[in-house]
Parts: sequence; C-alpha cells; structure tokens
Amino acid sequence: MSGLNDIRATFLDYFAGQGHEPVSSASLVPANDPTLLFTNAGMVQFKNVFTGAEKRPYSRAVSSQKCVRAGGKHNDLDNVGYTARHHTFFEMLGNFSFGDYFKAEAIEFAWTLITKEFGIPKDRLLATVYADDDEAFELWKKIAGFSDSKIIRIPTSDNFWSMGDTGPCGPCSEIFFDHGDHIPGGPPGSPDEDGDRFIEIWNLVFMQFDQLGPDERVPLPKPSIDTGMGLERITAVLQGTHDNYETDLFRALIEASAHASHTEPKGTHGVSHRVIADHLRSSSFLIADGVLPSNEGRGYVLRRIMRRAMRHAQLLGARDPLMWKLVPALVQQMGAAYPELVRAQSLITETLKLEETRFRETLARGLKLLDEEVGAQGGAGTLAGETAFKLYDTYGFPLDLTQDALRGRGMDVDVEGFNKAMERQRAEARKAWSGSGEQATDALWFELREEHGASEFLGYETETAEGKLQAIVKDGAAVSEIKAGDEAQLIINQTPFYGESGGQAGDTGLVFTGEGAEFTVTDTQKKLGDLVIHIGTLTRGALKAGEVVELQVDSGRRTATRANHSATHLVHEALRRVLGDHVTQKGSLVNAERLRFDFSHPKAMSDEEIAAVEAIVNDQIRKNAEVATRVMTPDAAIEAGALALFGEKYGEEVRVLSMGLPDEESGRPYSVELCGGTHVRRLGDIALFKIVSEGAVGSGVRRIEALTGEGARRYLIHQEEIARDAAAALKVTPDDLPARVLSLVEERKRLERELAEAKKKLALGGGGGASAAPQEAEDLGGVKLIARKLDGVNPKELRGLVDEAKKQVGSGIAVFVTATEDGKAGIAVGVTDDMTDRYSAVDLVRVGSEALGGKGGGGRPDMAQAGGPDGSKADAALDAIRSAVKAAVAA
Ligand code: ALA
Repeated sequence: MSGLNDIRATFLDYFAGQGHEPVSSASLVPANDPTLLFTNAGMVQFKNVFTGAEKRPYSRAVSSQKCVRAGGKHNDLDNVGYTARHHTFFEMLGNFSFGDYFKAEAIEFAWTLITKEFGIPKDRLLATVYADDDEAFELWKKIAGFSDSKIIRIPTSDNFWSMGDTGPCGPCSEIFFDHGDHIPGGPPGSPDEDGDRFIEIWNLVFMQFDQLGPDERVPLPKPSIDTGMGLERITAVLQGTHDNYETDLFRALIEASAHASHTEPKGTHGVSHRVIADHLRSSSFLIADGVLPSNEGRGYVLRRIMRRAMRHAQLLGARDPLMWKLVPALVQQMGAAYPELVRAQSLITETLKLEETRFRETLARGLKLLDEEVGAQGGAGTLAGETAFKLYDTYGFPLDLTQDALRGRGMDVDVEGFNKAMERQRAEARKAWSGSGEQATDALWFELREEHGASEFLGYETETAEGKLQAIVKDGAAVSEIKAGDEAQLIINQTPFYGESGGQAGDTGLVFTGEGAEFTVTDTQKKLGDLVIHIGTLTRGALKAGEVVELQVDSGRRTATRANHSATHLVHEALRRVLGDHVTQKGSLVNAERLRFDFSHPKAMSDEEIAAVEAIVNDQIRKNAEVATRVMTPDAAIEAGALALFGEKYGEEVRVLSMGLPDEESGRPYSVELCGGTHVRRLGDIALFKIVSEGAVGSGVRRIEALTGEGARRYLIHQEEIARDAAAALKVTPDDLPARVLSLVEERKRLERELAEAKKKLALGGGGGASAAPQEAEDLGGVKLIARKLDGVNPKELRGLVDEAKKQVGSGIAVFVTATEDGKAGIAVGVTDDMTDRYSAVDLVRVGSEALGGKGGGGRPDMAQAGGPDGSKADAALDAIRSAVKAAVAA
C-alpha cells in the first residue's frame, strides 16, 4: 500500500512521462484573481493561460496544488471534523492541456493512470458526463469498455464546472469509486447520492468557454483540459478506507495530537483530533504563504480556523498551547513536497504559539459565559445574537467557533442578531472618530477605509497581482472614473505595492487593464495604518471604480530597495560591534538608489572604523544565510533580542527579521530587528555593500550613506574610472598614482618656493641671481625712496622684500605694491629706523591704500602693510606716496 507522498509522486511522474511540464503549486493567496479569497483549484494559476491572455513555453502541465476552502464561496469549515471527507486544506492533483489535447486523450490518460498505475479494478469505477455530451459518453464506452449503465448523464451544474462567477468553464466528466454496498449511499444522480458509498475521485473538465459576466460566455481560443483529483480521497481509496482521516498522513497528525495532549486518538476526542489535524494543515500552509492572523480579510479566516482548532485543543484538556507542538510532525509529512513549509517553520511555530497563548487568556472565560447563557436558556434553542457578539467582541470568539461550540448541544446562533450588533458597534465607532491633521482628506480616507476595509498587502510574497479597484480619488474627492492625463490616487483591495513606512520608500510601478488602461504609480503611501494609496497618473485609457486591475511593482526598483533595506539591518549591527552598544538607530531612509542610516555616536568615524563596518557587512553577505521572518508580540520580540526603535508605535503583533548565522556563544542570529519592510531571501542577494559617506547630522548623531548590489558596483567602477583617467593623464599605472600625486604636490611646493624666490629677487634687483644689482633709489629732496610695482607677487612676500630693500638703502623709505592675480592689490611700506621720527610707515601705507581704493592698513612706524581692491591703481599708489614724502620734505 502506497503512502500519500508516493501517490502524489506517481501522479506527477505519470503525466511528466506524457510530456506534461511539472509546475509547482501556486501560493494559496491567488495573485492573479482578486475575486478569489484563496486558491481553491489546480487551474487557478493557469486561468490566464486558458483564456490566451498569458503564454507559457509549454502546452501540457501537471501539478499538485495546495487548496483552501474556508470563508468565501466554497466554505467547508463548519463540517470539518464531523465528516469523512471535508477539509479546509487539501491537495488537488491535476493535468492540464492548453489547447493541446482534448476529451479523448484526457479520458485515456485518466483511465490508464487509475487502472494501470494505481491498479483500481474496473468494476469499482463509474463515470458521469454532462447530459448532452454524447462525445464523452462514447469515449467512456470505447476507452473504459463501460456499459451504458456505468456512464451516468447528469443534467445539472454538477457536471458543468466553472471557476467562479467569471473565468474559464466547461462541461465535465467525473470518475466515481464504489466503496461497496456495506457503505450507505447511492450512485451519482440518485436521491441518496450524498452517502459515502460512491465517491467522486477525479473531475475532468473540458474547458471550452470563458464566462465574462452573468450572461456573457465566449469560447476559449482553443478547447482545453483541466482536471482535479483530491489527493486525500484517492489516497483513502488506495489505502482501502472511505475516511480521509484514516489515511497515513492524517493518522500521523492525529497521533501527534493525541501524543501531545495525552489523549486517545479515537473515541470521545476523535472529532477534536480531526479538527486539529485539518486546521493545522490549513493554518500552517496559509502562514507559509504570507497570511497572518488578523481581524480582517484572509487574516481573519486564518484566525477563525486557528481559534476553532484551539478550542478543540482546550476540549482535549491541553493545559498549554498545543498546535505549535504539532508543526514538526506536519513538516515531516509534507516538508519534502512543499519546501516553503520548511522555510517558514519557525514563523508557523511562533505564530501558532502566540495566537494560542493570547486566545487562552479569554477562551476559558468566554466558554464560561457561554455555558451560563446556554444554562439560562435551558440548554436548547437559539443563542441570542447579542451574546454571540459579546463573545466575539470581548472574548475573541469568531462566530463559527461559537456555532461549533453549540453544535454538540444541538443549538445554533441568531446570526441576524449577531450582524445587527456588529453593525451597531461600527456605527458608534464612526461617530466617535474625530480625525487628525488634514481634516478633509483624513475624513475621506476614513470613510473609504470604513467602506472597503484595509488593503491587503501581498508584497512580501509577490510583485504582481490582480486586484479590485475599490475607489479612485481625484482632487481630494472620490470619483467613479478617470481619463488619460488625470492624476489620481487608487485604492485596491489587495496589492503588492509597499506603502511608504518604516523608512522604506513606497513602491512605484504600473496598474493596468486588459482594455488598455495604464496608470503609472509614482509613489505608494499608507493612510490610517492599513489603507494603501497608489499615487500616480493615468497615461492611457480610462479606469472605473469597481474594475479588476493588474498590478505590477517595478521589480528592479523593488529588488534594489530590498537589498538596501536588508543591508541597513546589517550595518546597524556592524556599527554596534565596531563602535559599541551605545549605537542606536535615529532614523533611516531606504529606496532603490541608496540607504541612509542615522545613529547616535559622539564623533566622526575613522577610516579604519568605516572599513571595519564594511568588512563585517560584506562578510555576512558572502555567508549568504537565509533571512527568517517571524511574528511575535513586541515584548517577546525584544526579549528575543530584537532591536526596536524607541518611541516607535508597534501594533499587537510585529514582524521580526533575523539575519545571519547564529552566534556560536549566544545562539542568536547576527541581527534581529522588528521590521515591516521587504527584505531579501538570502543575504547573498545584497551582493555588495559600500559606504559612500559618513558625516554629522546633529549633535551626537552621525549619518552613513551606502550603496548595495548594482549601485555599489557602479560606484566602484566610477571610482576606478576616475583613478584610471587620472593615471592616464599622469602617464603612470593606477597603482603608482598615489606616489606620483604626492611627488607632484612636493614638486609644486618646491616650484612655488623657487618662483617666489625668483620674483623677490626680480623685485629687489630687476635681475636674477644672487649678484643682483642694488635697488635704484630715488632721491626725493635728500630722502632716499625705493618704490617698486610688482606683478603677481603674493602680498605675504612684500614684507620680506621691504626688509631687504631697507637694508640695501641703509637710510630711507621702501615701498612695494603688488597687483595680485585676482586683480586686487597689496602694499607694504618700510622706514629705516633713523627716519622713523620723520616718517611713519603706517601713515604712508594709508596714503597708498587709499589710492588703491582701500582703507586703513596697519603696522608699526618702521613697517606697515595694507591691501586694496584695485590692483590697476598700483602706479597711482606709488605716486601718492612719493607726493606725501615730498610734501613732508618741503615742510
Ligand atoms: N477545476 C476542476 C475542479 O476543481 C478540476 O474540480
């Protein structure tokens, strides 16, 4: 007898051998269909391939698809645990033809597989066809050799399969297994067909149409095939039981549940174990696909499933949270076929533990209240809606949990009364809301949030999705339609776009429709915590509220942003290791171009410290560990060593990002931080890290800017180009560049010195060399004056020149004016000591400075200096001083 895992493998191998491409199961959260709550059939991921909107490199495929039927249209939740075949989670095996083969081959393949590969005897099988499908009828006769009585024509929608209100559809043919007359039940189409004897094991859908709306159905481009076989059912058949919960996989899970709760697997507690085994699967797979318990949408369906199981854990008498203890058993059974389960194991474990710990705080009191109310009602009838609402509101009892708790007593709930109580509470909340800040737009967002609920963020798992355009806001008001050229803000029920938060920039990308509308998203923002606003311009076509739209995040930018965000966590920890534990985050900004990280540290980082931080971060990148996400309460997270931002408001549950291999001593990963941003899968995805600047942003706060991946590579290439160009200009290799530049700087200094020397000599003697002739002194009525105009000499040199000239003249006055390179002027006047009683250098320099358009000047009677704005007046300055000297002689 084969185990469930072998049966799955046999199916996949058989069709792979028939030219079918094995395709992995798609996520339980359908990225390509906003009308579906969860993936509920194998064909969901191929929807657009059937309609021709999407092309794939193959025309035959085979898969084993994870499916959830809970909440929404197909809701099996209420029955799970009480029947032999209801599940919230199951696997659908399917083979698909996209315009390749059709009915004959589909029936042929199915027949061969079940009778030859699986070895099911022909006499235990029968088939149904859609009432007027003679072709299928004849094919069954021919291929299976069935007599007419074994092929049942069904005129109802049971044999016309459609995905939902819209989408691909067609007549179908189902294969039934007869468990034998010891089990009650009649053949399909008979009054007692719902019994357990005749079980549908495989549905072959002859896909021929695309349902566009309630009254509009068009043919598919080519007739196609979609089949679905419940793995749990076929396993039951092949393992000789009619009860799915008696198969190897479920027995293992039920064993684990019985073991952990110290109860018997069957008997009194049988139902509870079945509920737990089933709900463990759906909860774990949903969490692995990015759904987390919440109070809305998919998250709330998950919470309902989890809490329903948790009540049953309590019925088993479990004193502590139980569900999380069963995760290893599940991973052991299913981890090989679904690696995502292994990847998310810690996230699943902690999410289950947290939810059960939290729910246990109110579960017992809620059940007590329920008991009292039931007692007061005499243990029969319908529970008041108000009471069910109180259980919901105060004790966290989802409605179906209360219904499940009453089921054993034969009671139900006044659902209408429950809904009324819920609506009343919403109305009160609306009244109490008083807004903040920008009242008008805030109020609009609040109203839209009330009407449509939170936007579901799919972006941890995917960059593309379909969504329902719930509202369009233009110029601050909701509108029903926009046209090309309009700027607007879009609210969409589910979105892969990340709204700016936690320092991570909002995503950019495209929102478009098959009808040619194209909206360029230039920014994404969050309002009221969980409403995502896509901001941009409609560049083509028209968009109407209510339409289904495709969303596509700019993948290149998102990938770069992810790398920058993860690198920010790495750099935070590296700074703490290099600089000390006083380093705390003071702010950060992460976008596709770069990352910026502000942190407390009293002084500039040295080059060595920067290099050490870079080395640590790059070492982590090269080690390429997986990045793990968990969900915890903020307190538990901080206890686990997570770095949190002081003063930041965190919700009841937080995402905790762990990066890097565990430390040998502490066992903790390299970095643990609270973070809602998007991150790389493995640290190697960051590729490269480079700090490009370090500086101050305030007292005690430093800022690092850095690049990763392609940005860092380009930066380094640019640096290399600079070095190469500089080296080429200097005709050396880049390696020799620093030595060459240093020697050039030295040489320049030397040349400047020599030049200054030469100019000085020139100024003093009019010629070069040490033997320069003495200055020619003018004689102004007995007073000797050396007066020279210089060009381009640094004013700082003037003083030395004046001293030299004073020595040469022996007794007299020396004046030097220089017109500097920037067109200004410097002037210095020296008076030999024997003449300072008659002339003051200070007075004379003022005269010169005035002529140069300046004011003042300073010094002593024997040496004074000044400047002036106009170098072209150098001669006038000398003349003014001459006149002043002459005037004094005359006096
Ligand atoms: N899509 C078909 C089903 O879900 C095969 O039954």
